[in-house]
Amino acid sequence: MCGIFAYTGEKESLPILIDGLTCLEYRGYDSAGIFIPHSGLIKSVGAVDNLKKKLSKAMPGKSGIAHLRWATHGEPTEANAHPHCDCNKKIYVVHNGIIENYKELKNKLLLEGHIFISETDTEVLAHLIEHYLSIKQDFEKAVISALKDVRGTYGISVSYDNEPEKIIAARFGAPVVLGLGDRENFIASDASPILRHTKNVIYLRDGEVAVITPKTHRIYNLDSAEVTRDKQILDWDADQVKKDGYEHFMLKEIMEGPEVVENTIRGRLIIEEGQVKLGGLEVVADRLRQINRIIIVGCGTAYYAGLVGEYMLEEYAGIPVEVEIGSEFRYRKPIIDKNTVLLAISQSGETADTLEAIREAKRKGALTLGIVNTVGSTITRETDAGVHNHAGPEIGVASTKAFISQLTALALVTLFIGRQRNMSLSVGQEIAKEIKLLPKKIKEILKSVDDIKAIAKKYKNSKDFLYVGRKYNYPIALEGALKLKEVSYIHAEGYGAGEMKHGPLAMIDEKFPTVAISLKDSVYEKMLSNIQEIRARKGKVIIIATKGDKTLTDFSEDIIYIPKTIEMLSPILSIVPLQLLAYYFALGKKLNVDRPRNLAKSVTVE
Ligand code: AGP
Repeated sequence: MCGIFAYTGEKESLPILIDGLTCLEYRGYDSAGIFIPHSGLIKSVGAVDNLKKKLSKAMPGKSGIAHLRWATHGEPTEANAHPHCDCNKKIYVVHNGIIENYKELKNKLLLEGHIFISETDTEVLAHLIEHYLSIKQDFEKAVISALKDVRGTYGISVSYDNEPEKIIAARFGAPVVLGLGDRENFIASDASPILRHTKNVIYLRDGEVAVITPKTHRIYNLDSAEVTRDKQILDWDADQVKKDGYEHFMLKEIMEGPEVVENTIRGRLIIEEGQVKLGGLEVVADRLRQINRIIIVGCGTAYYAGLVGEYMLEEYAGIPVEVEIGSEFRYRKPIIDKNTVLLAISQSGETADTLEAIREAKRKGALTLGIVNTVGSTITRETDAGVHNHAGPEIGVASTKAFISQLTALALVTLFIGRQRNMSLSVGQEIAKEIKLLPKKIKEILKSVDDIKAIAKKYKNSKDFLYVGRKYNYPIALEGALKLKEVSYIHAEGYGAGEMKHGPLAMIDEKFPTVAISLKDSVYEKMLSNIQEIRARKGKVIIIATKGDKTLTDFSEDIIYIPKTIEMLSPILSIVPLQLLAYYFALGKKLNVDRPRNLAKSVTVE
């Protein structure tokens, strides 16, 4: 996630801004930049250290803005790094968020003769402020007018060479916090870079604009009416701030589920047309119409996401799909031709086995697509086209929010291809409507954290678990088992529930509990029989059930309810309690949840 930081006061700003960026590094980024009025602009790709190395001359000044960029629109390059400026190089902007209507705004500004040097959505804001400044001749009014034209999310800081002491901040959908010091004030995406200077903070709310100088701070709404906001004393330490107050990144990232789905679908759903807008696929839309087969490739959690995608694409896009583990695919002799799509799924975009599978498929003429979270990653660069997750960086080694985003992106891709083919308008509309409701439904599930915590405590001495599901939730049984293994080191096996009597049932007794995903869907009756098979052998069952389903209380007292949705989207909801269950098992064992032993976040070696 991008990080913004700004300072205005009586001290030299450069060391403060660099230190602030260092505090924000944990958010994940690929480039950095600083602007200091009357001293200029410096940017670099890669680590903050690269920025320091470029500091060939002094950059005196008592204010400035700084940024760490997590690329969403445009590759991680120096030109795309923030801050971005206007044509006159007077107005500088740093931004966290996504401006959905940036293309429309950019076209208007281009017609007015504005010159752009980057491919980012953020640069549009600098030129928009320039446009209004030329009309209103007032910096604050120009910023507010520009923001009223914007659709999307923003957390910004703006610096103006002609008013060097003043910095303007604004927030809509991306956090912005003010730090109020002694004859100095700060702006940041979170309090981690502020805490070392002051504990007096004000968290801006959506639609608010703040104007700070060394000795003053004022807050307005977008109607330019002044807003009074009391400051609060922050009693967190920096580490707690980075985790947003949660004990681990894994829990923070599970809790981000609703926001992650919002960001993955942002600007992409056209509900009334039952359509999706996926710029990354538009470029290959004609080739996609010709394809007759999809091979999905991924590793670990990404592979399990692919298994869900297989059900989605076969049922709703009517295309044969096979799903392969990257490390296996590359050693097979796969039959591939120009009508085959290889769809790679990868959070990091750097997984070696997935990358090699892409290269093999390209050699054989396949169209290669990616569903990747990290913009500018190798897989993003080497695939012909694809969809970015926009899930923000995932810090915990165990993939949680990325998986939710991958499943959501697969639903969008299914809609895109399905509507090119035989999917009807009404089916498209129903899927699009249900996708839109997912964030609210995930929020509802997250309220049952305490029940899930209690279940993890009740089963804390279990040494083995079986996870079972069917159809769309068979891959969720696999992923749920992986989550438990990864973070709690407890043995767990995921199985298609129909496989019970072909072997796994032999393991079941009162010491070998099962997690069963038994939703009110097309395989509900079958799941009930499987649960009865388990109970007949004195096996205990933890059930993931559809809210309102009272039948299952006869089978178990450990039931976690999730809201109803269409079967195709149910994995996006059913995985959430399983992620939380794994987390609380690991917490109960006092393990290093964010950094499980023997594992790396990105497996860039074969
Ligand atoms: C998931 O919890 C694991 N950390 C791991 O299986 C991961 O999903 C796999 O290594 C693939 O990583 P990628 O999505 O970055 O390609």
